[in-house]
Amino acid sequence: MPVADAPSVPAGGAHEYDHFADIYDVWTETAASTQANLPFYVDAYLAAQGPVVELGVGDGRVAVRAAARGCPVIGVDASTAMLDLCRARATREGVTDRVDLRQADFRDFTLTEPADLIALPYHSIGHLTTLDDKRRALHQVFSQLRPGGRFIFDDFLMTPALITQMRQVQLRAMYPSSSSSPTPASGSSASRPPEQDTFLWVTSLVDESSQSLTVVTWEDLVHPDGRLDTRRYRRLSLSWLLPAQARQLLEETGFEVEACFGDFHRTPFADTTAVEQVWIARRPAADDAHASTTT
Ligand SMILES: C[S@@+](CC[C@H](N)C(=O)[O-])C[C@H]1O[C@@H](n2cnc3c(N)ncnc32)[C@H](O)[C@@H]1O
Repeated sequence: MPVADAPSVPAGGAHEYDHFADIYDVWTETAASTQANLPFYVDAYLAAQGPVVELGVGDGRVAVRAAARGCPVIGVDASTAMLDLCRARATREGVTDRVDLRQADFRDFTLTEPADLIALPYHSIGHLTTLDDKRRALHQVFSQLRPGGRFIFDDFLMTPALITQMRQVQLRAMYPSSSSSPTPASGSSASRPPEQDTFLWVTSLVDESSQSLTVVTWEDLVHPDGRLDTRRYRRLSLSWLLPAQARQLLEETGFEVEACFGDFHRTPFADTTAVEQVWIARRPAADDAHASTTT
């Protein structure tokens, strides 16, 4: 299929993350797949033989962990707020020399040296909400890999049960928040307002026909007596690929699919057991192409 000639406008995902950054930590701590995807990606980064790039590096949850274990990572993200979080995390962990951050879009990032591994973790391909944008990003990834280099990404495995679950309103987390009234620097504890709680709620608007969803979260800041003080909404636009579409996009881009797993424990994908789709694809080496033309 031809590559769409669309302008390179910032994807909704990155703008939305500028407003999402301050709850990203609690978001990932309470997510279903982050405990399992973290060691999976860190191990893949450590096993790479050359430059490692994480697209959508976010707050550095994965990249900084790999850097702390000795692996230099180039982190690409379009969101200023998320890059700031990543920089702060790298500073806290003392690994700024191993985390090289670049502000760019998945669809047109460029590297000075071809990568051995490009990863796009945690359903982030879904922030490109059209097939054309996904196709453009895959072409860009392919072009920035060395021959023989790998592209690893995961996507939702959308099932009727998951759609039903996503449509429900869920209390995602509850945590103490600092009071909206500033605490006087010289004030005694008696003059301080009692601590308020924050309730983080989530639901999703799911449109099956376009394979897209809007995750809507709201943070309720609640007085100790239960009255609502303030509410703040945030949203994330996402989409999903069917496994057959993911394979087709990879193959039409020129990738060779090495593996598709149904979870982050590397269980081979099977419709009946899979909970994720985790793809490992390889840009064929120059001699692979030669071998295929001579056989
Ligand atoms: C789900 S977070 C993943 C963060 C991190 N990789 C992790 O696993 O926790 C997605 C990240 O992708 C970034 N992003 C979304 N769309 C983007 C785009 N088109 N180009 C570059 N970054 C994008 C967001 O700013 C956000 O930091």
